[in-house]
Amino acid sequence: MKTCTTIAELRAEITAFKRVGKRVGFVPTMGALHEGHLSLARTLTEHSDVRVCSIFVNPTQFNDPKDYQAYIITLDNDKALLEREGVDILFAPSVAEVYPPGFQTSINVSEVSKPWEGALRPGHFAGVATVVTILFNAVTPDVAIFGEKDFQQLRLIEQMVRDLKMEIEILRGALVRDDDGLALSSRNARLSVEGRRDALSISRGLSAAQSALREGERNADTLEALVAREIEKVQGATIEYLAVVDEETLDKVATVVGKCRILVVVRIEGVRLLDNIALR
Ligand code: PAJ
Repeated sequence: MKTCTTIAELRAEITAFKRVGKRVGFVPTMGALHEGHLSLARTLTEHSDVRVCSIFVNPTQFNDPKDYQAYIITLDNDKALLEREGVDILFAPSVAEVYPPGFQTSINVSEVSKPWEGALRPGHFAGVATVVTILFNAVTPDVAIFGEKDFQQLRLIEQMVRDLKMEIEILRGALVRDDDGLALSSRNARLSVEGRRDALSISRGLSAAQSALREGERNADTLEALVAREIEKVQGATIEYLAVVDEETLDKVATVVGKCRILVVVRIEGVRLLDNIALR
């Protein structure tokens, strides 16, 4: 695996591959890699000839500076994992490479950015849309993949690519869970043993709602209550939002019709845990 830290270096590598007709696939990440990230890289093998992964902890998407400071960095381990997956290029730029002095552009995807994460984290999605655009311009991928774990982020990228006529195919990667059901996240490492056990209430609640749906329940309030009931059993767990939404618009729905999803964020031991489940 070739590691590039500058855009110039990266472009030289990519140009060489493109000249011989290779299709470039891209997985953007912030590092602290786990099986969720690696599954995205694996899915890309069927869709591209050359795989590029980026590791960049993007300061502009952290509305809370403490969260940015606390972000786990495990670059050596990440490199070993990507080598093992057979990723061809790692792009790991510095903050100054991505945002040189004088930088002043921001990309705002208006509607998709408004609810849920957007409402609680002002500026977060503009930070994501802007950095992903910069990374797309640096990597010039034919195809890129984003995880359903961050479902609103995935919708944001799909919308942006459509609106800005970017010639990039966007793939959706399935949410990867641990054997016990906990959605994999780099933030899980900040939970104590008890906190991690408490966090299982989230996936338990989501599964309960999915089972009820499969037995015919279509009422969104009822489905949300099933999720809340599990989480509220845990002392010290705070639900930041919990909603049955339309997958396309992300608007809250009253009844499950067509493609809907439950989005939930729970704070346990100060750690924000995002999860969601497709209602099928
Ligand atoms: P990060 O949180 O590192 O996630 C990188 C990618 O991995 C995202 O597409 C995310 O949805 C996916 N991912 C994380 N956990 C997953 C899981 N358990 N199952 C499946 N996919 C999972 O998301 C970001 O970084 C950043 O916002 C980024 C897009 C890189 C822009 O800075």
